[in-house]
Amino acid sequence: MNFKDKIILITGASSGLGKALCLELAKTGCNIIALARHEAGLVKLQKAIEDLGGRCLAIPFDLSRFDQYQDLFDALKTQIPHLDGIVHAAGDLNRCTPMQYVQAKDFQAMLAIHLTAPNMLTQALLPLLEQAPAAQIIFVSCDMAEQAEPNWHAYGISKAALDHAAQMWQLEHPQKKMCFHVVNPGRMRTELMRRAYPGLDPLTIPLPSEAIAPFLAILEKIGLHES
Ligand SMILES: NC(=O)c1ccc[n+]([C@@H]2O[C@H](COP(=O)([O-])OP(=O)(O)OC[C@H]3O[C@@H](n4cnc5c(N)ncnc54)[C@H](OP(=O)(O)O)[C@@H]3O)[C@@H](O)[C@H]2O)c1
Repeated sequence: MNFKDKIILITGASSGLGKALCLELAKTGCNIIALARHEAGLVKLQKAIEDLGGRCLAIPFDLSRFDQYQDLFDALKTQIPHLDGIVHAAGDLNRCTPMQYVQAKDFQAMLAIHLTAPNMLTQALLPLLEQAPAAQIIFVSCDMAEQAEPNWHAYGISKAALDHAAQMWQLEHPQKKMCFHVVNPGRMRTELMRRAYPGLDPLTIPLPSEAIAPFLAILEKIGLHES
């Protein structure tokens, strides 16, 4: 893998899947733009990336603040010539709740982070993606996208909609200079999973580093046009 001259933005970079991807890409000298809300996690991540030979621009950013997406773009466009890829790995969950009891604010929060954010962030950064030779954009799905499961309310609904979203983006960009993908990493031993299944023995669940191969396989196509 050679990501030395590539610029890839990863949301949810400070933990779980996003962090595992950052650390693997760092070993190849990748230029990583790391997004998450909390600065402390990002500072640790930035050091780890640089220790591994990568470069990191860490940006504390709350993806539910849609009013700040334009500012994010304006800041990025002064620092990078283009964007080769985005992995929308941010995710959040307080607890699983049956639809019967879920409150509107919690429902909306799940839609915001898992559905609105990946779509609106892609939209905001489109001019930078269009400047890349051929960019790869990855939405992160889950098992609920294929088979409905109880208690996941707007989290599950959002994930199920991502496949549709990726297809729509691709149809709107048929030249394949940009490719839109949906990847389900399967269950991973992360904070999100711990909150979803507090009683589950974490040691029975694979680490996020075991889930990153399909993401890397897609990112390796950066710069390649598909016909
Ligand atoms: N874990 C699983 O078993 C599993 C299975 C299938 C799919 N997934 C999906 O995989 C992705 C990664 O999940 P994970 O399990 O790795 O989660 P995680 O370890 O809990 O990490 C979540 C990341 O998202 C960031 N984040 C949360 N809310 C944010 C916001 N409003 N703005 C910006 N960043 C935010 C967090 O950082 P801050 O708190 O600092 O913001 C953190 O870096 C998610 O899309 C999840 O739905 C997970």
